[in-house]
Amino acid sequence: MKTSINILIIAALFSGCQPKGTSNTEQTAEISDTTYRHIGDSITLRAQQTLVNQVLAAIGEGGATHAVTFCSLNAGPITDSLSDYYATKIQRISSLNRNSGNTPATETDSQMLAYFSTAALQQKDTVVHVGKSVLYYKPIRIGMTACLQCHGDTKKDIAPETLALLQEKYPQDKAIGYKLGDFRGLWKLTLKE
Ligand code: HEC
Repeated sequence: MKTSINILIIAALFSGCQPKGTSNTEQTAEISDTTYRHIGDSITLRAQQTLVNQVLAAIGEGGATHAVTFCSLNAGPITDSLSDYYATKIQRISSLNRNSGNTPATETDSQMLAYFSTAALQQKDTVVHVGKSVLYYKPIRIGMTACLQCHGDTKKDIAPETLALLQEKYPQDKAIGYKLGDFRGLWKLTLKE
């Protein structure tokens, strides 16, 4: 008896919440930008760890040239499987890119790249609403010296055989000449289409 009264009270409370003219199925919960940032931060953290672990393992296995081949074959598929796993479109975009598929594609992409590469060095990440879609952007930096083996100075950091392979695979490569700590590009997540 007590339980059924409780259920009635709960049902009454919830029906009170429902805006007039909307059925339950049409209702979508409002998610705050703080929540979107938490989600975006944890997904990009995991994606970054996955890619870094894989590239370091490939270097350990067969040196930087082997790792270039590994990245050229697997960076896209790994990012795509993470997108599937998190049911969220995950991309890496950069103005100075190696793979032209990572070129900024929208005005918002370009604005965010400009924003994070200059004044916004203290800003960790951001959520942007474009129409109905919700996007999350977070800077990628040259966070460790290992990155320089493939993205650093062509005379000092990148071994000649690695450079030759990079030039062969990516004739339009713009992703060289970086220094430790440099802004490299952005994670872009489409959290809501
Ligand atoms: C063994 C060589 C190698 C190392 C080490 C390496 N990268 Fe890359 N990186 C690549 C290759 C190759 C691509 C292009 C992959 C593709 O075709 O999708 C790439 C692509 C990227 C991209 C995507 C944007 C673009 O330019 O196309 C980012 C961002 C990036 N690397 C950041 C880093 C960071 C940060 C590190 C250090 C943690 C790092 N890379 C270490 C070889 C490397």
